[in-house]
Amino acid sequence: MTVDRDAADPGVQAGESPDTPGRRGRVGDGLGRGRRRSRGIGLALLASLTALVVAGCAEDKPLNTFEPRGPKAEQIDSLMMPIWGIMGVVFVLVIGGTIWLALRNRVNPDTYDPDDLPAQTHGNFRLEIAWTIAPALVLALISIPVVANIWSLEKKGDGVEVMVIGQQWWWEYRYDVDGDGFFVDANGDGVVDEADQELPLNIALDRDDVVTANELVIPAGEQVDLVLTSRDVIHSFWIPRLNGKRDTVPGRWHTWALQADEPGKFTGWCTEFCGMSHARMRMSTIALPRADFDQWLANQATPAEVPTETEAAAGYELFQNQCMSCHVINDGNLDYGENFEAALTAGGAPNLTHFATRTVFAGATLPVYLGPGTDPNDDAFNVENYLDLSALAADADSPDDYRLNRPLLKQWVSDASQLKDMSPDDGRGMLPFPQLTDEQLNQIVAYLATLD
Ligand code: CUA
Repeated sequence: MTVDRDAADPGVQAGESPDTPGRRGRVGDGLGRGRRRSRGIGLALLASLTALVVAGCAEDKPLNTFEPRGPKAEQIDSLMMPIWGIMGVVFVLVIGGTIWLALRNRVNPDTYDPDDLPAQTHGNFRLEIAWTIAPALVLALISIPVVANIWSLEKKGDGVEVMVIGQQWWWEYRYDVDGDGFFVDANGDGVVDEADQELPLNIALDRDDVVTANELVIPAGEQVDLVLTSRDVIHSFWIPRLNGKRDTVPGRWHTWALQADEPGKFTGWCTEFCGMSHARMRMSTIALPRADFDQWLANQATPAEVPTETEAAAGYELFQNQCMSCHVINDGNLDYGENFEAALTAGGAPNLTHFATRTVFAGATLPVYLGPGTDPNDDAFNVENYLDLSALAADADSPDDYRLNRPLLKQWVSDASQLKDMSPDDGRGMLPFPQLTDEQLNQIVAYLATLD
């Protein structure tokens, strides 16, 4: 290695010591190169600085940590600012000191004397203690508010509880509707404990629970407690405007909390690399006024209707034959068994019971409806329309109205991997259905549109 490095730097050749005449003759060349290099570094610094300043101009970006919209995110924001202040002071001292020393001790090639060495500080006991203790003190100082905040960010409230389950590449949400704390009492012993965590998550055991996917609906102005886990690999749950990140780990249940000050839409992104569609594993969060949230939850807990209209009814039959081995739609005909064997989830695919109430599908990357603010990248959606989306879409008569995203829904059912990278043969993602005719795809989408 030594030889390689020396060979790469012609200013010093292997076996040559700094005070040999050969070194002396090359000092001038070295400085010329040094100037060119420092000009390059200066340009790179300027470009980075410009990029940073320009990035700072962005406004109303849905994933902007600097625009908190709830007390948890505000807590992080107000912790981050003073810490950046401390970091700024350290940065200026260290970089400023380095530049100052470099300038002060600059070598003049005309008067350079290799025997005139500056005072050597190697092994200086006081200096070494000082530069060990000073950073340790700074870190200790910063850790006090940081640790206190981490504890308080996940502190449990007494409101709505939602279980969040990560899966390649979408999110499942389970609501503890009756407030008994049950999400997956997998062994049916009446207690949710570690023994349940060992068991597969594809069993929903409390018949009052609501199981939904991709879109998290919460009441505004209240803390919502989350229990996070994963079915496959480690994911990370992050709604930047409502709170920080929390990993979801298979076999472990982490707690977290969200709170939105006002009704609105808040998007998020999986932030732990989790496979080929990690970049297409997103979240959509809708915060509703409490009364609307209660109405939403009551509707979600109601079984879906079996359609009677011809096209949708044909779609219902197709869905029963083609889709029910992965997806679940609770139409009241599901067999709940005696108590805890209610299979509201099929394990590998989203529960679609009230699909038409959601604004997103495909891991919150595609809009179920087209219209103002329904783009998954756009947080400007007016949540006053949320509970009426399917009715508004049914009455759509102008291109500005909300309307069903029929083309993409059909394409998704036909061959989802055209719209999102996946590997259905390995059980990761949705199977293609090339055998379905255009008419049949229309029928299935017509059925999905009735699931409001
Ligand atoms: Cu899930 Cu990245």
